Amino acid sequence: MAYSGNDVICADVDEDNIDRLKRGEIPIYEPGLELLVKENMEQGRLRFSTGVAGAVDSADVIFIAVGTPPEEDGSADLQHVLAVAETIGRSMNGDKIVITKSTVPVGTANRVREAIESLTDHVVHVCSNPEFLKEGSAVEDFLKPDRVVLGVDSVEAARVLRDLYAPFVRTGNDILLMDIASAELTKYAANAMLAARISFMNSIAQLCEVADADVDMVRRGIGSDERIGQSFLFPGVGYGGSCFPKDVKALIRTSRDLGVEPSILQAVEETNEMQKGLILRRVIERFGSELAGHTFALWGLAFKPNTDDMREAPSLVTIEGLLERGARVVAHDPAAMEEAQRVLGDRIELRGGNYDALEGASALLIHTEWHPYRRPNFGRMLSSLTHNVVIDGRNLYSPERMGQLGFEYYSVGRRPVQPTRSVEPA
Ligand SMILES: NC(=O)c1ccc[n+]([C@@H]2O[C@H](COP(=O)([O-])OP(=O)(O)OC[C@H]3O[C@@H](n4cnc5c(N)ncnc54)[C@H](O)[C@@H]3O)[C@@H](O)[C@H]2O)c1
Repeated sequence: MAYSGNDVICADVDEDNIDRLKRGEIPIYEPGLELLVKENMEQGRLRFSTGVAGAVDSADVIFIAVGTPPEEDGSADLQHVLAVAETIGRSMNGDKIVITKSTVPVGTANRVREAIESLTDHVVHVCSNPEFLKEGSAVEDFLKPDRVVLGVDSVEAARVLRDLYAPFVRTGNDILLMDIASAELTKYAANAMLAARISFMNSIAQLCEVADADVDMVRRGIGSDERIGQSFLFPGVGYGGSCFPKDVKALIRTSRDLGVEPSILQAVEETNEMQKGLILRRVIERFGSELAGHTFALWGLAFKPNTDDMREAPSLVTIEGLLERGARVVAHDPAAMEEAQRVLGDRIELRGGNYDALEGASALLIHTEWHPYRRPNFGRMLSSLTHNVVIDGRNLYSPERMGQLGFEYYSVGRRPVQPTRSVEPA
């Protein structure tokens, strides 16, 4: 928003993060963000503050973008959203537009409006503007959105929001104006659809394994149908991150609350929970359930490439299972090392180089399809691994080639491969 010329003040109650941002440090790994933040700070269009009330005071338009983590029962926890609404209500010094940018269940904008209106006589327009950016390409996605969804119930709010987003849709991408409930549901429906494609392909991959078929062929065979399309058809170790798991859970909860049986969503979630245990099951099938004395190397800890986010990452399921069974775990990730240290402490060992993580390991377990892992030096891998086993949760390599190189190779929805040439293990 600052990049298109607006004056923006970002307020957060997390003092540490705000201090870092004021110094121009970005607390998360997100390509392109540092430059953008620095540039806008230098031009005086972007400021950071812990004074939420003060930020409200000086703003005409307020975006609420706080976290909405899952509650025990799967519903979205709205305490932070409603806390901000209360602060806004107490700080209103004129008419304002308030936008729920956080992913929130249908009906939340109304609750935000009621909370604010109970504390002020000024006019507040509350709108829903769900965010569709992807971690790892957040800057690009925000500056060039596929579409902008705006849930509005006033002409004035529609005009202001259209103006705000006009700089980002100059090439004709849609601004979709709709009622607030539809906008709120659109975000959940989008994430649930993407999660469903992942779980669907993981189910097909399971089927391929028992039917002696190759999921890669099936993927290409269906993806070339333009009604289906190529994206989000890669099988893997399940979805993680801060959005899909919590949003599928929250939509299940909303459906139940509204009396609609969420059977598809339930299946999406159950399939994913199963899939997150895939690498651990493969390890146990290959090495047995007693893993003391074994070291396992992990490549990739983040839930996907180009982020350091490990929330609900499949790697954590593998790590916990390995540690429980007495194994030693050594890991590498191009961006998530600091986050791994924070989450796991010294329960696993972290290595600065991906090959260093392989030294003396029985097997390499791949969780994240980071680019540097896609064309590795296989000779170095063979000279470090003790059993020449690679369990690949992202189908990065050709099974045939891996067998020829001398690996025992397991991937997802493709035939396992035994080495076709013998290489003396390290
Ligand atoms: N991360 C994504 O890729 C993504 C994409 C689309 C939508 N969303 C949605 O955006 C929302 C935020 O997600 P996130 O990943 O940035 O969460 P996050 O937990 O990383 O960040 C939330 C921030 O809100 C701050 N906060 C909490 N209470 C506050 C208060 N009362 N006043 C001011 N600040 C407060 C926290 O300190 C924290 O810095 C969620 O609803 C999420 O579903 C996230």
